[in-house]
Amino acid sequence: MADFQNELKAMTPPSDTGNGCRVFIETYGCQMNAYDSQAINGLLENDGFEAAPNIYDADVVLLNTCSIRELAEHKITSRVGEIRRQRRNADLPPVNIGICGCMAERLGNELHKGVNRVDLVVGVDSYDKLPALLADLTKSSPTKHRKLTATGHRNDAHYVAPPSLYPVNNSHLVTIHKGCDYKCTYCIVPYTRGPQSEKSPEAIEAEIRSLVDSGAQEVTLLGQNVTAYNWQKNLDFAALLERVSDIDGLERIRFLTGHPKDMHPHTMDAIGSLEKVCPWLHLPIQSGSNAILKRMKRLYKREEYLDMVDYARKAIPGATFSTDIIVGFPGETEEDFQATLEILRLVKYDQIFSFKYSERPGVPAAKLADNVSLDEKKRRLAGILSLQEEIWNTEATRQVGETWTGIVETAARQKGFWRVRTANNRKFLVADDHQKIGDEVSAVITGFNNTTFLTVE
Ligand code: 5AD
Ligand code: SF4
Repeated sequence: MADFQNELKAMTPPSDTGNGCRVFIETYGCQMNAYDSQAINGLLENDGFEAAPNIYDADVVLLNTCSIRELAEHKITSRVGEIRRQRRNADLPPVNIGICGCMAERLGNELHKGVNRVDLVVGVDSYDKLPALLADLTKSSPTKHRKLTATGHRNDAHYVAPPSLYPVNNSHLVTIHKGCDYKCTYCIVPYTRGPQSEKSPEAIEAEIRSLVDSGAQEVTLLGQNVTAYNWQKNLDFAALLERVSDIDGLERIRFLTGHPKDMHPHTMDAIGSLEKVCPWLHLPIQSGSNAILKRMKRLYKREEYLDMVDYARKAIPGATFSTDIIVGFPGETEEDFQATLEILRLVKYDQIFSFKYSERPGVPAAKLADNVSLDEKKRRLAGILSLQEEIWNTEATRQVGETWTGIVETAARQKGFWRVRTANNRKFLVADDHQKIGDEVSAVITGFNNTTFLTVE
């Protein structure tokens, strides 16, 4: 799943409820982790823990981690050492550090070893055990190394992030299923997140209703493969969208991420016809070469993907597209790479998230020789980015002069401006004219800066 969570606001810290233990959660990776961190905060708050505002005011620091690429894991391992250094430099006593999320699941007890070892390891389906584990952990001094671990997959572990902790008037994350039943050969997710298991439609509806009751207008339905949602093989993603659309007071529904194989015509018809469902499809293609797609076990051919995009353009008015791409998969030739570039020219994505292939231990692709050199991967990545920039500049220029409507989401980095998002996920800035977050605004597009559009001369 691509990294969109930078676009989401930080959660509101819970109020002081008092068992005296303050926990700071640092979140890495995808939106599933952003949601899980909210759920963890909720579980801890219920048990009297307090949310700390930073590592310096915390008794325990939890890192909610990502294993998708080697670099993501390296960054987190070195962050453990950095937190300890930062506390020392601030003349603060040592702090207990725990690892949650995908790295906890992948590495388990390994994380209790080495210089950057931690005291607590809690996997994605074990967060209900966190209050008890933390109570145990904080009984002893952080200088005494503890080896507390809770990992392993459970179908029934569906956590809910309590609305009281959610930011108001933003796109509220609602996880609708966990795990993934596909086995794309490069991907660690089926191992770290386990098999797919859906939240019931009743639970999803209840969660969204309570969000709406506390002021939410918009939700983002989340999952590794939301388009594969199929509750008891009887209520699929299109039917879920219909059901969620019926919730009074909810105005917009987004979703992330879809698998191209499950983006059926009737799903696209539902997206196109349900007014509240936003016309933005994030559909990772990964590669434009059929040979590579086959070796990745993506279960579609480039022609089928392109047919789906054609259908979506007709069925979903104003649809925009974004995607994920991996360059340098084992055996990727220059011709394979060119086939991926060709896809960019054909689809004209609004946004792409592209990555150098990173071998993950134990996945099927790890048996193939990682034979595209690092320099070549870098060259291909740069090629993707520069072609995308060229395509986007032409596409974005064509938007100038149009009038767009969107919702004020946050203050822009540029002082005196708000950041607004349209239903089809385009962002534009408007000058501050006493609007507030959640307001609908319209403006004429006058230019753009990368993927952000401007509305002043
Ligand atoms: N190497 C590089 N990129 C990867 N992704 C998943 N696994 C790997 C890997 N081993 C990318 C895919 C996915 C996105 C979230 O991360 O493009 O869609
Ligand atoms: Fe990984 Fe493929 Fe599942 Fe996405 S669909 S999480 S890339 S295995």
